[in-house]
Amino acid sequence: MKRRMGEEDIAALSALIEAASAEAGHRALGEHKWLDLVQGGREGFAGFVATDTSHRHRLIGYSQVSRGPGSWAVEYVVHPSFKKEPGLRSDLVSAALAEIAAQGGGHVHLWVPKPEEADDLMAAAVGLRRGRDLFQMRRRLPVEGARSTVATRAFRPGEDEKAWLEVNNRAFKGHPEQGSWTLQDLKEREAQPWFDPAGFLLAEQEGVLAAFCWTKVQDDEHEPGEIGEIYVIAVSPDFQGRGLGRELVLAGLEHLAAAGLEKAMLYVDRDNTEARRLYEKLGFVDDHVDRAYVGDVAPAPAAR
Ligand SMILES: CC(C)(COP(=O)(O)OP(=O)(O)OC[C@H]1O[C@@H](n2cnc3c(N)ncnc32)[C@H](O)[C@@H]1OP(=O)(O)O)[C@@H](O)C(=O)NCCC(=O)NCCS
Repeated sequence: MKRRMGEEDIAALSALIEAASAEAGHRALGEHKWLDLVQGGREGFAGFVATDTSHRHRLIGYSQVSRGPGSWAVEYVVHPSFKKEPGLRSDLVSAALAEIAAQGGGHVHLWVPKPEEADDLMAAAVGLRRGRDLFQMRRRLPVEGARSTVATRAFRPGEDEKAWLEVNNRAFKGHPEQGSWTLQDLKEREAQPWFDPAGFLLAEQEGVLAAFCWTKVQDDEHEPGEIGEIYVIAVSPDFQGRGLGRELVLAGLEHLAAAGLEKAMLYVDRDNTEARRLYEKLGFVDDHVDRAYVGDVAPAPAAR
């Protein structure tokens, strides 16, 4: 039922991912993971397919493993018609975890958009536990009746990196993904096709960088050209609690509305209650949850 992915699978996989994406209303496999898949052969990458043996080996599920800095990422996709297939999810994930064990083991995270009970059962079956829950919140644009009153300016590549990194890393201290960015992390984002300094808004107060709102517009084939993201927002700890957070969210939303977008979205941790309250007051409502399942895989005996 399971085997390592071969070149001939890619067309069938595209169809599987498309079917799952259409049903879910969002891309079922992260973009960089898709690149791993198409380009293939990267170190620390493996894909696994599940087929329906009673129907000419039709593809019904796929999982993949990729090695990131310091941990492994696993993702999986199940065909919408086979969402209730007993053991399918846990078989797909077990294959991925066995590969990680064979490659020396380590910390694993598996993000599931819009998790269902079957995903929690999968995690229990393969020995993963629930990690972070990220809410995706949305609102329509434009915002009627409220305007930002704080002056902002666009990020200047080549000049603002140092000050931005300092504010970002202080504001997000201890945050697993956002709290210890390096200049290289920032430069990598600046090199992305979606990067637009005009939507990366900085607010200075008392001569220093006090807050920022970084917006991102990336066409999603399922919601083309209509949704913009508040990608990262923070207020320097020296300036928090003075209304700057609210002003910067408004400034970001005004930028997105001026760019012609009809909706805005953002991701926020379930336990970031301050930020969630702020977004709710500004009219954002929960759209769905993305859940991380995490665990640690021991090396397989042969890999030790
Ligand atoms: C979340 C964040 C941007 C808010 O910015 P801020 O400038 O401190 O917030 P504001 O002063 O605009 O306050 C917004 C609302 O939150 C409330 N609030 C702000 N700080 C609060 C605190 N420490 N405790 C409780 N409520 C608080 C305010 O009462 C205000 O509500 P109001 O409009 O009814 O007065 C800021 O705390 C931050 O940078 N946090 C770390 C980074 C982060 O988590 N970013 C969001 C990731 S999704």
